[in-house]
Amino acid sequence: MPSLQLDPLWRLSAEYAADTRAERLNLVIGVYRDESGGSPVMPSVLEAEARLVERAPTKEYLGLSGNLDFNAAMTRLILGEDALVSRATTIQTVAGTGALRLLAELLATTGPDRTVYLGTPAYVNHPAILEAANLNVVEYPVSLDGALNAEAALRVAKSARAGDVILLQGCCHNPTGLSMPGWLWGELAAVMAERGVIPFVDQAYFGLGDGLDEDLEGMRRMLRTVPEAVIAVSGSKAWGLYSERTGCAIVLTADRERGDYARGVLEVIARADYSQPPAHGALVVAEILGDPALRAQWRAELDDMRRRLTELRNGLVDELIRTPNGETFAPLRDQRGMFLRLPLGAEQMDHLREKHAVYGIPSGRISLAGVPAARIPDLAVSIAAAAGAPMGVRVSL
Ligand SMILES: Cc1ncc(COP(=O)(O)O)c(C=O)c1O
Repeated sequence: MPSLQLDPLWRLSAEYAADTRAERLNLVIGVYRDESGGSPVMPSVLEAEARLVERAPTKEYLGLSGNLDFNAAMTRLILGEDALVSRATTIQTVAGTGALRLLAELLATTGPDRTVYLGTPAYVNHPAILEAANLNVVEYPVSLDGALNAEAALRVAKSARAGDVILLQGCCHNPTGLSMPGWLWGELAAVMAERGVIPFVDQAYFGLGDGLDEDLEGMRRMLRTVPEAVIAVSGSKAWGLYSERTGCAIVLTADRERGDYARGVLEVIARADYSQPPAHGALVVAEILGDPALRAQWRAELDDMRRRLTELRNGLVDELIRTPNGETFAPLRDQRGMFLRLPLGAEQMDHLREKHAVYGIPSGRISLAGVPAARIPDLAVSIAAAAGAPMGVRVSL
């Protein structure tokens, strides 16, 4: 019987909705917000939608693999080079979550004895998705004192058996904000290829760390070395298409026969699950990626989001450093992406919520994208007060 407890994100969001304090700040969910707190539709998405209305595409059923133009464009965007694209099999999914679930089911179907190694703290939904697919999950520490725990990742790769899987986030790890450096992708790839260990890469925050190609390069480096890999891609963040449930699952195989087999398994699972993915978000992304001018506009908008996140992070860290014992916050500058993981324990996060109306999640994560720039000074004071609150145990990042 699965746990009937919802993950804390949705419980805290409901609590926030009932909070009447004027200064309340919702930093729970990873949604990009502007200075007014709204989550605007990206202009490139609005332009694509206007063109779609004009063309009025059919609402006929898609095939089980979804929108084929979208699949081809996403495969090219994510993999970036012919040698990888030619080894890929892609199916449109119900966003990144749907891709994770389908790929977890594929891995379980093709190797019921596999172990999946998962770095913790993990994205809250990763354990639930892997367990729902009946995969055996073994955890390892993804970070040590706020920095990436490269040694633990390499140790896991060296001890895994052939057919085992390591789940890796492509960049801007949720919740730690850490991105793996290229050398670690390379070293892990060499060990995994030698031992027959399969990478399961979750790409949700590409473009929001150091730049689109920079964020994808580590994974591409690994894929050049390993014979097989699976990749879950979310369109939610990079196009702001959260509620349109847009994404795809990419399977990289050594030969076409195995790729065709993987597509067959994925389509059978999808058919019994939701049958066909939703059309709209994929149509929008295919329209954007298929038109060089609109694509360039989207890239510029994505870069703007990334730059603003970096400014918010640096601004908050600057303010935190000015508070008593503020130097402890300096390493936060190295984090990347939509989130910031504060070195606070669950009780200190409770203090932040109860005394200062700032809603983050118990692991210390706040969504940077939800912080209006004008609120940074008072947010830093609140965080410093929570850090100094005489309670709880600090967690290691
Ligand atoms: C690491 C990670 N993977 C996957 C997802 C799934 O996103 P979606 O299902 O909205 O595409 C998220 C969403 O927050 C995430 O943080």
